[in-house]
Formats: sequence, C-alpha cells, structure tokens
Amino acid sequence: MTKTSTDPIYVTDALIAEDIEAYLEQHQQKSLLRFITCGSVDDGKSTLIGRLLYDSKMIFEDQLAALEADSKRVGTQGQEIDFALLVDGLAAEREQGITIDVAYRFFTTEKRKFIVADTPGHEQYTRNMVTGASTADLAVILIDARKGVLTQTRRHSFLAHLIGIKHIVLAVNKMDLVGYDKTVFDRITLAYRAFASEIGITNFTAIPISGFKGDNITALSDNTPWFKGPALIEHLENVEVGSAADEARSFRMPAQWVNRPNLDFRGFSGQLASGKVRPGDAVRVLPSGKTSTVSRIVTLDGDLAEAVAGQSVTLTLADEVDCSRGDVIAAADAPPEAADQFEATLVWMADEAMIAGRAYWLKLATQSVSATIQQPKYEINVNTLDHLAAKTLELNGIGVVELSTDKPITFEAYSDNHTLGGFILIDKLTNATVAAGMLHFSLRRAQNVHWQATDIDRDMRANLKNQRPALLWFTGLSGSGKSTIANLVEKKLHRMNRHSFLLDGDNVRHGLNRDLGFTEADRIENIRRVGEVAKLMSDAGLIVITAFISPFRAERDMVRSMLPEGEFIEVFIDTPLAEAEKRDVKGLYKKARAGQLKNFTGIDSPYEAPEAPEIRIDTTAMTPDQAADLIIDRLLG
Ligand code: ADX
Repeated sequence: MTKTSTDPIYVTDALIAEDIEAYLEQHQQKSLLRFITCGSVDDGKSTLIGRLLYDSKMIFEDQLAALEADSKRVGTQGQEIDFALLVDGLAAEREQGITIDVAYRFFTTEKRKFIVADTPGHEQYTRNMVTGASTADLAVILIDARKGVLTQTRRHSFLAHLIGIKHIVLAVNKMDLVGYDKTVFDRITLAYRAFASEIGITNFTAIPISGFKGDNITALSDNTPWFKGPALIEHLENVEVGSAADEARSFRMPAQWVNRPNLDFRGFSGQLASGKVRPGDAVRVLPSGKTSTVSRIVTLDGDLAEAVAGQSVTLTLADEVDCSRGDVIAAADAPPEAADQFEATLVWMADEAMIAGRAYWLKLATQSVSATIQQPKYEINVNTLDHLAAKTLELNGIGVVELSTDKPITFEAYSDNHTLGGFILIDKLTNATVAAGMLHFSLRRAQNVHWQATDIDRDMRANLKNQRPALLWFTGLSGSGKSTIANLVEKKLHRMNRHSFLLDGDNVRHGLNRDLGFTEADRIENIRRVGEVAKLMSDAGLIVITAFISPFRAERDMVRSMLPEGEFIEVFIDTPLAEAEKRDVKGLYKKARAGQLKNFTGIDSPYEAPEAPEIRIDTTAMTPDQAADLIIDRLLG
C-alpha cells in the first residue's frame, strides 16, 4: 500500500509536528468507538488487527501519554513500522498466552478514536469474549473466505448478540486466497444472513477484505471492483453509535453518590442510563416512589439546560426527598419496575461451578443486593444453540435461570436498557466476579405475593414471655459435641423459666428435611430451611438453639442477615477433626474412612470454620456442662 499526500495519516503527522497541543485537543474531541474482533488466529485476526494498527499509524495510548509528557518525541512518530514484524509480535503475544485475557488495543484515525478488544476465539475463552464484548459498540466477526460460516462464527455471533452489541460487521477475510471471487463472498454472506436472522441479528455489514494484503481496509480495493463499499476503517469511522436510541427512552439515572459539600447544597450524582432531563422535569426516586422536580443540573463546567444519556451530572431536587446510592431517579410518569424475582441469562465465569441455592452479591448499576439462584431452567449449547437440561453452570456455561433477591431492585429488561438490566454476581467469600447476567423480566409470582402485616408483632410475643428472642447457632464438625452442649443449654434455660426450642440436625432430617442428603446443594438447602424456621420461631419470641454442622460460611452469614442485628449468636463448637474422629460417637468417621459414607464433613466434604464467632467453645479444654454455663452467661449476661 502506497501512501499519498492526502492520506489521513500524513495529515495527522503534520499536525503533530506542528502543534502538539492542537493535535491533542483535536484528538480529545474525536468520538470513540469500542469494538471487538471475533475469530481465531487462523481466520487472520492478528493480521487484521495488525493491519488496522498499521494503517492507522498505531497511536497507542501509552505512546500518546509519552507524547503529552515529552513533545520532543514527536520526531519518532514519523518512523515506518514494519507490518510483518508487527503482526508477528501480536501473534507471538497470543501464543505466549499474554493475551489470554482480553487485550485492549488503542488506535486512532483522523475522524475517530478506537479501542479494540482482542479476545481469544476458543470456546474455553467464552468468558473473556463476554468481558471484551460487554463494553463494545460493534463486533467484527471474522470469517476465512476459504472456510465460510463455521461453528465458531455462530458462537461468536450468538455471544455478541446476547451481550447486546447492535452493530455487526461480517469481515470475509483472505479474499486474496479465493481470487477475489464475488460468488464466494455472496455465498458466505447469504449463509450468514440465514443464521443471523435465526438468532435475532437483523442487520449486519458484510465486507470482503484481505488483512494481509490490505484490501478494503482503509480504502476500496481495485481487486474487488464489484464491491461498492464501505471499506472497513471507513465503516468503523462512520457507524452511528451515539446514544440516540438511549436518549429516546424514558429518563433514568442510578444515583452513585450524594454530593453534599455544605448544608446549602445537596445533589445526587450519577450517569444518565437513558433519556434526557431538564430543570423543571418531574422525577420519581425509586424504590421509595417519592416525587419531586429537578432544580439544577450541575457539572464541573457549570449548569446545564439539559443532560442526555451517557452524561455524568449532579441533580438537585426542589424537595427534601431521600435518595442514596443504589436508588434510581426516573421520569415521574414512566418509572421502571422494582421486583425481587427474575428470569435472567447467566454467563458463568468462575472455575467453581454455580451453586444453586447459595447467596451471591448481585450488582446492578449502583445497586448491590444478595441474590439466590435456582437450578438452571436450561443451559444453552453455544455451538448448536440447543437447550440442555442442567443442574448447574460450569465455567463458560450459559444458561437461563430464575433468581431471587433479598430486597427489590429497580430494573429494566436488558434488551431495553443495558445499565438497568445487566448485572454481575460476586462470590461473597472470595469477592471474585463469578458471572455476568442479563435480566429478562420479573416473575409475576413475586409481584402478587405480598407480606401480610399482622397486629401482634414479635416484640409483643417476646414481652409476654418476659425475654428477648435470640438464635444460638451452633456450628462444628460431626461429633464435635453440638447436640450434647445444645441440649444442656436448653435444659438450663428451661430451669430458668426461659422459653426455648432446640432444632437438631439429625432430628430435622427425619421430618422437614428428610428429602435432603449431604451434597453441597442439599446442605445449603438444609440450612436455608432451618434458617427460615429459626427466624419464625424467634419471631414467636423464643430463644432458638440450632445444632447443625452448617459447614459453609456463606449460609451461616445468610441466616445471620435474616435476623435483627445482634440476635444471631454464632457458637463455634471447636473440636479438632482428630479429636472428633477419636471420639466417633456414631461410628460415622470409621465408615467414612472406609469409603462407605460419601461426602462426609472433614473427610471428603469441606468445613469452613467461623472467622469471628460470637462464642467459641474449645471442647478439649472444658466439659459440656462448663460450656453450657459459658454460653448462657454470654446470652443473658
Ligand atoms: S449439615 O451439613 O447439613 O449442616 P446436619 O447437621 O444437618 O449437616 O447433619 C449432620 C448429621 O448427619 C451428622 O451429625 C451425622 O450424624 C449425619 N450424617 C450422615 N451423613 C453425613 C455426611 N456425609 N456428612 C456429615 N454428616 C452426616
């Protein structure tokens, strides 16, 4: 490819050389397109990315920073970069696994800035592709002209569509290797159209290219006179990705923080997720539903007469309404829904499989709640798009699930609003992001079941019994002494005229929970049910004592969060495994060691000891009777 004096790159170079400040200024005002390239190295992805960087002169972000720091380095910008070397470098990076995650590359043309997320193409990197796609406006789906539409073309297209990328470019690459044959290009485009419409992609732009030779990258190629354009970079420069569609929707702004520099000013800061807002507009704060009108739209550059989707602003309201982080400020006459049960698509991103019934943190816009996921309704085979029965989702698994949250969240369907419909799930213990999700709709059953207020409340019931309710939650290994000590505690409380109830693992498993075994999922459900029962009993005014192994911190914490502050008292019956095994009161350790009992806690199923229990009992240092006295002291003292 020869360059001419009108080549945009030369114009840019001249500008840089002339006035770095002016260049940077112009650079800053250019719009930004984020896109993702999908395809494998075989499809020529590295070559294409290399070509884009090369033809656009490779202004990397770090180079730009260096430019800002030291304008003397401008001279080096004129250097020619060897194309083959560049591609080799990109390919080598990938082979070495450096770009196993998502590599973001930055380049710019005269018209626009670009960030391209280069994600690995194999199925085992689905999560990386989803990560890269989550912020992209456009996806370039790369096809090898000699091979046509492949399984991975379908997978990548499905994922791009799932994430809600609106602009798809079908780049039919390696046209030089099929003699720039129009019929090959037409056949592939037709085949792709048939598939695309099946999954709901209604529109895409097909471009015949050669990343290697540079055909139809910056300019239309003489080798494909039958192709009327646009060339790839031209298309990337001109595709409309503004927030026009978002602006046309109703106004919503998730509140990020309350801005209160002094007593006279109280503003709510955030980024508009959709719509527009002007001073004087009637707004509603959710979930409270309180209404007010917008007084001012404040920014660092002064007040605005209007703010639109994508802008970050601070709103002041005419009335003193409560609004804090996580609330959503919306158009008063068209507020979004709030609900606590949903259907959603999940993309599982963690090495540990999803655990149905476990509570995860769910973050949606600025809201953060606890969410429990049900067993998937089905999993989607990303290659065939078939729906499969599944009990869980493994790494890279995609499925449709129902989930419930502990508090209602203000939301919209992901297809309508990515900000209020997209979420992530976070493991409560490791703080790792384990899944990305997209809400479909709320479940009616949540809307139609309302909490019934009763006239006699928990305080009245407890007062009648002359006591404060509490939940003594015993946890520890099998045979650690939980039942023995719990039983003694209840006997002593009874003698003191306290009203109590002891829920014991072995007993509850004979009745309410007789359908549950000892898999991780069953243990979680066991504890969830016991937690609910214990909560009802404490509402009845009782001192509840539970004796369950309850091996997982997450579920113990879940029960803790169900009760009023201070009522959940975690009692760790701390008996080392060796000691419990030595006592082996029920002979179960022996069986487990002999392989006759599967999933036995401490042997082939984990026990997560409490990190900060309210009471810790070292059973090797005191008798059960002393332990019971100590617990009662702490409870009533
Ligand atoms: S939990 O893990 O779900 O909290 P839970 O306390 O209800 O367990 O039940 C534990 C009791 O079930 C043990 O004390 C033991 O008597 C019996 N048991 C039977 N199989 C197992 C097993 N695989 N692991 C642990 N306990 C078992």
